[in-house]
Amino acid sequence: MKIAIMGLGTIGGGVEILLRGRPDISVKRIFTRHIPAEYAALDSSLETILQDPEIDTVVETLGGVEPVHTWLCEAIRAGKNVVTANKAVVAAHYRELAELAAEHGAAFRFSAAVGGGIPWLTGLEQIKRADKIDALGGIMNATCNLILSRMIRNGRTLAEALAEAQAEGYAERDPSADIDGLDARRKLLISANTAFDCVLPEESVPAFGIRHLQPEDLEAAAVWHCTVRLSNRAFREEDGRIRILTAPVFVPLDDPEATVWDCGNRLWCQAARGGLYSFGGIGAGRFSTAQSVVQDLLDIKEKTPERPVFYQKGFAPAVPDNRGWMTRWYVRGAAGSCITEWRDTAEFVQEIQARPAAGEPVFTALIVCPSALPGGSRTSGTAAPAAPAAAPPRA
Ligand code: HSE
Repeated sequence: MKIAIMGLGTIGGGVEILLRGRPDISVKRIFTRHIPAEYAALDSSLETILQDPEIDTVVETLGGVEPVHTWLCEAIRAGKNVVTANKAVVAAHYRELAELAAEHGAAFRFSAAVGGGIPWLTGLEQIKRADKIDALGGIMNATCNLILSRMIRNGRTLAEALAEAQAEGYAERDPSADIDGLDARRKLLISANTAFDCVLPEESVPAFGIRHLQPEDLEAAAVWHCTVRLSNRAFREEDGRIRILTAPVFVPLDDPEATVWDCGNRLWCQAARGGLYSFGGIGAGRFSTAQSVVQDLLDIKEKTPERPVFYQKGFAPAVPDNRGWMTRWYVRGAAGSCITEWRDTAEFVQEIQARPAAGEPVFTALIVCPSALPGGSRTSGTAAPAAPAAAPPRA
């Protein structure tokens, strides 16, 4: 198998290193902005790559939506398999890219887009072959977990912890996608689409981040024997509705999510018959993520000539519907902090999303163990029946 790599940054460079000396997969061409001298002989334009009949598969690690989306479409039309680590383009264009790949007999894989080196999307793909996935979620953003770890364990402010994460190469110079929850939302969306065989529009999934988190919020969580993590939740209800959101959560200290530190991720899914499955490991970083890219290449190579290798069988359009999902929240705004009564999640999200627009920075966190709070038993709502004892809390 001869491949081309588009983008020789942290991940693309890691893929090249992992493939060195392998007899089964070789890097024939590289398309990147600044080619290091040692790779000058492989330096190629996109056109050269697409016209080279020996190139079987294109690995894309450039990131961003455009022009990458256009380039991936061109690669697929040229009959190339595509492997990408780029969650932004997958979250925005998965259906189009997968259908185009099917039309052209090409494979399309993106294991590295969620969970770094953890075999999460392939895990979902396997589980749903034999069972039905009803829920999934967990910690999917390594940068926020690192920032929270430094604040909790080392007493850093958010600004200090973010500066450290940037200096260590985890957070971008513009950290908005991580700290506003958008990266976690993309990963949640890709995971839910994969597990539920649907297509959710990205902007329709509510996302709260940690941008406005203050040390006092961590202290408030500690009062309830909780800590704070940025986490995801998606539930497919029996009537087919999808409840979904990305938000900081107050996690009880004995919850597995509370034991995930630094760049760790913890992802779980709940299957109708098999119950709870959980996955953990390093969620970001050069070789963990590059390893997932190499796994995709091996899957494609081993499954050729059947080729089309997707994660989804269907693309049913879906719209999140959080109405009737009763949750409780910690909220801190200009007037101080409070813990809400049980709220309809859709109404609560709408209310909170309007407040920054009115100039008020708000930090809010979902409380995943509300029964521990005063007035904690559920008083209303139509959330699905409680999951088995081993499952994550249903909030
Ligand atoms: N910014 C991402 C994170 C990189 O911190 O999780 C890995 O997808």
